[in-house]
Amino acid sequence: MANTVLVGAQWGDEGKGKIIDFLMEEADIVVRSQGGDNAGHTIVCGKRKYILHLIPSGILRHSKVCVIGNGVVIDPVALVEEIQALQVHGVKVENNLLISELAHLVLPYHRVLDERLETLRGNSRIGTTRRGIGPAYSDKVARIGLRMCDLVSPKTFTEKLAERIRENNMALRHLKAEPLDCKKVLEAYQAAAEVLRPFVCNTVVFLHDAILRKKRLLFEGAQGTYLDLDHGTYPFVTSSNTTAGGACTGSGIPPQEIDHVIGVVKAYTTRVGSGPFPTENKELGHFFHKMGREFGVTTGRPRRCGWFDAVAAGYASMVNGIDKLAITNLDGLDTIATIQVCVGYQLEGCMLRTPPAMVSDMERCEPVYKEVPGWQCSTACARTYGDLPERARKYIELISELTGANPTFVSVGANREQTIRI
Ligand code: GDP
Ligand code: IMO
Ligand code: MG
Repeated sequence: MANTVLVGAQWGDEGKGKIIDFLMEEADIVVRSQGGDNAGHTIVCGKRKYILHLIPSGILRHSKVCVIGNGVVIDPVALVEEIQALQVHGVKVENNLLISELAHLVLPYHRVLDERLETLRGNSRIGTTRRGIGPAYSDKVARIGLRMCDLVSPKTFTEKLAERIRENNMALRHLKAEPLDCKKVLEAYQAAAEVLRPFVCNTVVFLHDAILRKKRLLFEGAQGTYLDLDHGTYPFVTSSNTTAGGACTGSGIPPQEIDHVIGVVKAYTTRVGSGPFPTENKELGHFFHKMGREFGVTTGRPRRCGWFDAVAAGYASMVNGIDKLAITNLDGLDTIATIQVCVGYQLEGCMLRTPPAMVSDMERCEPVYKEVPGWQCSTACARTYGDLPERARKYIELISELTGANPTFVSVGANREQTIRI
């Protein structure tokens, strides 16, 4: 496999972690380049389930190297907890993890601000994960952020943190939140710094050397295209570029080194948090939730569910340059008699083939559906494309035709082996 970027082509939780884990057999290095611990990527190996937030999903493959790139925002305390939880389960996290010295930090005031601002927004809240992601990226853009290189320089970190806590405490008091105790924060973050120090380096040089040595890079996207700060359903988005370009800026790897873009979609659609979702279908949501499916892994919230939206996925294919499509959770539709696929949005008498810019318009879009007969049998044991029932294959071909993307992987269960390469 050449250098490949993998992105979510819907609203996140498409099954990126599972596909990354599967593709790691053919990659040497996996890189996260945006987002933070708002991400929750699930990997199921046999009876064990791992949930990764900041550490790339390649970590379970012991001989591979995982890189957290400069575009990621890192809560050092959360990262240490994640490393330790993996180590308890016998997963090696030593010289196989590298963390960019340029990555910005998520600090306690970011989390408190995220929490307070969301609460104050009431019904117009974004529905964030409350992990401080928006405030941390805001500080980065405002050029007042602290980075990993600061964290591992005790004197610099002490000075900068004290200044930032002093400033933020004014804001916190104003928002009627408890001010932070600088000494306590410093203690916790200095302890985390000691654990993380050996992992921190110039990951740009490491990755460029790896390319020269013909190592194969796999970029693990977090969130999904419609949560992208520029291309998503703004303002109901996250604060990073989740689309393919984010892999380059968030890692320091130039675009000409990227050979493929894999887009991951569920065979239906889900979304957590607020914002427009044209194909949302409450009944389908109840159906999945009753089966114990579709609960967010970071916040435990039930995901909103709906039919496959080919308008959104087709546009995502264009924005990301998707040349391979991975369709996950096909088994979720196994028992459904009639499946709907959205082929257009109807707005004020016009048929839209791309999502409108304004969320107020997107909220008013009526999905236009094509109905297809379900296959009504289990796909969970299918291991080749030919094993799938004919109607399931037709469904995949329809998705391909409507989105202009080439299906290359189909997933029929959460386990590693429940993956079909077409
Ligand atoms: P990510 O954030 O894109 O990595 O996705 P999440 O891990 O948040 O959510 C995907 C969920 O679907 C997880 O619970 C996975 O274990 C599960 N999953 C992934 N692919 C499949 C599949 O093909 N079938 C089933 N039943 N579950 C799947
Ligand atoms: P993975 O990588 C699904 C959503 C939140 C909210 C919006 C902004 O597992 O696909 P934030 O905390 O980022 O400021 O929240 O984005 N969101 C996700 N939804 N999967 C994710 O990550 C998400 N990360 C953020 O629910 O609507
Ligand atoms: Mg997830």
